[in-house]
Amino acid sequence: MQNFTFYNPVKIIFGRDTVSKIGREAAKAGKKALLVYGGGSIKKNGVYATVAGSLSKNGLTFIEHSGVRPNPVLTHAHEGVKKAKENGCDLIIAAGGGSVIDEAKAIAAGARYNGDVWDFFTGAAAIKDAVALFTVLTIPATGSEMNSGCVVTNEATKQKYNAGSPRLFPRVSILDPETTMSLPREQAANGAVDALAHLIEGYFTAEDTDVMMTDELVHAIARSVIASTDRIMADPKDYNARASMMWSATLALNGLQALGYGGGNFINHAIEHSLSAIYDIAHGAGLAIVLPAWFKYHLKMDGPGRLVKFGEAAFGAHNAEETVLAFESWFRKIGAPVRLSEARIPSADIPKIAENAMGLIAKWEIAGYDRKTVEEILQKAA
Ligand code: NZQ
Ligand code: ZN
Repeated sequence: MQNFTFYNPVKIIFGRDTVSKIGREAAKAGKKALLVYGGGSIKKNGVYATVAGSLSKNGLTFIEHSGVRPNPVLTHAHEGVKKAKENGCDLIIAAGGGSVIDEAKAIAAGARYNGDVWDFFTGAAAIKDAVALFTVLTIPATGSEMNSGCVVTNEATKQKYNAGSPRLFPRVSILDPETTMSLPREQAANGAVDALAHLIEGYFTAEDTDVMMTDELVHAIARSVIASTDRIMADPKDYNARASMMWSATLALNGLQALGYGGGNFINHAIEHSLSAIYDIAHGAGLAIVLPAWFKYHLKMDGPGRLVKFGEAAFGAHNAEETVLAFESWFRKIGAPVRLSEARIPSADIPKIAENAMGLIAKWEIAGYDRKTVEEILQKAA
């Protein structure tokens, strides 16, 4: 087990009827909020009304920044930065999924910076300050509600890049599982795949594999994601399944999931981000395509290794091959695509996708993956 430092200051308020607490929490940071949200799901499921009511009740005014797209884009983040600056917003409230929270994080950093917020994504500048951020999460998936990273796509360059800083940890995140009851099945599936992917990246690329505590934690979260998603698919109104799923996805990327592993990388994410950058497909759907292909490549290159242990713990699989098949069939079962063609991505595009992925592979300094290797992996998803 390798040395580590763990820091996570996010206050989590979890459970039924908790969205109305947002105003009291936000009032501790300021008076004027920028309320960031997406295409309107929060208006349909009542989250918007509860947030707006709670803000007014606690003496806050707010400016709206709506229309955040799934796979949030830089130009829209620029608009948000402008609004936050022009209106002197002293806090930001993100109500929605990972896309909304991520764009809100970019705006929080951009509002306290004189240059282009994209500088934080390319590494041209480091985030030194950010406006206080509060979130109301409505989809269990990314873990953005309890981590310090964000991902935005530069539409002009087709780069889907990340930025991060301890300044980007939300002050408070509210997780009310009832808000997730309105999720379309497809989004519930995407979220489940993403949460599993976050566990897989650290677990399978660990430098040190003798870390019992983190292994057991990862197995437990993975089992919970799988079992709660199965229950949600059978009964979308199953509150306890929604609750387990929501907390599991948060735990899958709040830092705990890789403690002691040392090293590690996010290779599947590096490849997936090029799929969602080029074709604008959902991140979870992209991962469902990449992961089985990467597992096949990993098995060929590195042997059964951790596939046996993970597969046994998560699916009751007996060997590495069974584990790979179990992943693929579970993704299929919940309705996620597992081949490029199922997402209408032509295999003739593989060289282009690989070329795009090399941007993040270089940025994240992932060793051992050149363009040809990425093409070989993607061929297994053709
Ligand atoms: O836009 P609205 O109308 O809100 O609809 C959204 C959107 O269409 C809908 N939705 C969300 N909650 C809902 C709901 N519909 C009905 N009822 C609800 N309760 O779901 C759709 C997808 O939302 P999105 O926010 O895009 O999903 P997700 O949370 O999966 O976020 C994906 C984004 O996060 C990034 C991904 O790359 C992608 O851009 N990631 C962020 C990470 C992070 N910050 O740590 C890590 C991840 O690996 C990931 O890269
Ligand atoms: Zn992810």
